Amino acid sequence: MTDHQRPPLRLGIAGLGTVGGGVIAIVQQHGALLAARAGRRIEITAISARNRNRDRGVDLSSYAWEDDPVALARRDDVDLVIEVMGGEDGPAKAAVETALAGGKHVVTANKAMMAMHGQAMAEAAEAAHVALRYEAGVAGGIPVVKVLGEGLAANVITRVMGVMNGTCNYILTEMQKTGADYADVLADAQRLGYAEADPSFDVGGIDAAHKLALLASLAFGTRIDFAGVVIEGIDRITLADIRHAADMGFRIKLLGVAQMTDAGLEQRMQPCLVPAGSPLGQLDGVTNAVAIEGDHVGTIFLQGPGAGAGPTASAIMADVVDIARGLTGPSMGLPAAQLADAARAGDVSAAAFYLRLSLKDQPGVLAKVAAALGEEGVSVHQMRQYDHDGEAAPLLIVTHRATRSAIDGALGRIGAMEDSLAAPVALRIEEI
Ligand SMILES: NC(=O)c1ccc[n+]([C@@H]2O[C@H](COP(=O)([O-])OP(=O)(O)OC[C@H]3O[C@@H](n4cnc5c(N)ncnc54)[C@H](OP(=O)(O)O)[C@@H]3O)[C@@H](O)[C@H]2O)c1
Repeated sequence: MTDHQRPPLRLGIAGLGTVGGGVIAIVQQHGALLAARAGRRIEITAISARNRNRDRGVDLSSYAWEDDPVALARRDDVDLVIEVMGGEDGPAKAAVETALAGGKHVVTANKAMMAMHGQAMAEAAEAAHVALRYEAGVAGGIPVVKVLGEGLAANVITRVMGVMNGTCNYILTEMQKTGADYADVLADAQRLGYAEADPSFDVGGIDAAHKLALLASLAFGTRIDFAGVVIEGIDRITLADIRHAADMGFRIKLLGVAQMTDAGLEQRMQPCLVPAGSPLGQLDGVTNAVAIEGDHVGTIFLQGPGAGAGPTASAIMADVVDIARGLTGPSMGLPAAQLADAARAGDVSAAAFYLRLSLKDQPGVLAKVAAALGEEGVSVHQMRQYDHDGEAAPLLIVTHRATRSAIDGALGRIGAMEDSLAAPVALRIEEI
């Protein structure tokens, strides 16, 4: 069959919000380009959302409407369901499961659903000989799933790192640039539409951890293990931390790191210090970035828009074009049944740490702190004392390489001292 004789790929779109609207715009604007690149026409046949009467700024009159996304996933005139409703369970999961069971391909932007149910869904897709793709769910417009799964397929991946939540990066960058504190910048981000009314998934690190769990599975050939990600949000980062880090030549980023260690798979999503001059240190605003280290290729650095209608829909339609071309390989780079069940390493690899302590300014306190660190085998590289803040004297320490458990042991001892006025803070200094 020649290309123009191949039947069109018929799309059903569940969700007509920011991302769904972006997908429709691309299909309507680039129909001829998509057909040429895919070798067949790509057309929308049916759509679903909650509110049929909402004006969505695009002409939807030629598409069949379904109130229920599961009914959309059952339609005979839909070959591929684009799930862009969101939510890890509920209608998104029901529609995807229905589509896969019915032998339809699925493309989704829903990292929360994929992080929780991706393993079972990948198995269902393979059993039905259809594709389940989620490029848009990991770092939005950056084609990182493709790079890991295809471009770097000849490498053993040694580490994947990323700044993958635009809201957090915006907040940390603005604090650094303007000197405003966390609460004020978060309120600004909400006004500008960069942060949700309930920002807890973003600032708590959960959204970025969903993405890291998917990247780790792809990179290391392991089952998706969201529960194995060590997660800390940015809500404890103060302006003082940002300034002190800058004084020492660092920036604070919500950084995800996945690597295979002797103890198993280490997956961490935490605020970390990175060198100010490094590509990750230079990453400003809502931009995302992912660094991938492979044994033969070295380090690949990808940077771009991590969210928004255009970038996210761009990634969705790239998956759709692949499927239209007949590329329907396994979701996680390996057949789902072959993915390894890696041990959880937790927060295991050694690093230098930045410590912020708030102590009473009295003779002998520094000696007690040094003793607490020494008893856990933690040695000090740099120590700085800042001006008094009321009764408290902020003390900043950069340690030599130590394990997180040694740091936690030392902080437990310091926090229990009567001279300690606030819970100590420890941030890892990531080597990049
Ligand atoms: N926005 C981004 O930049 C971005 C980036 C990467 C990934 N994502 C992911 O993409 C997905 C969609 O995000 P979004 O920003 O486009 O969300 P959104 O603007 O809130 O749109 C959600 C859409 O889903 C529809 N919907 C919700 N529940 C439904 C139900 N029970 N039945 C039928 N339709 C339902 C809504 O219908 P109504 O319009 O009628 O209310 C709306 O059209 C999420 O998984 C998100 O994490 C988003």
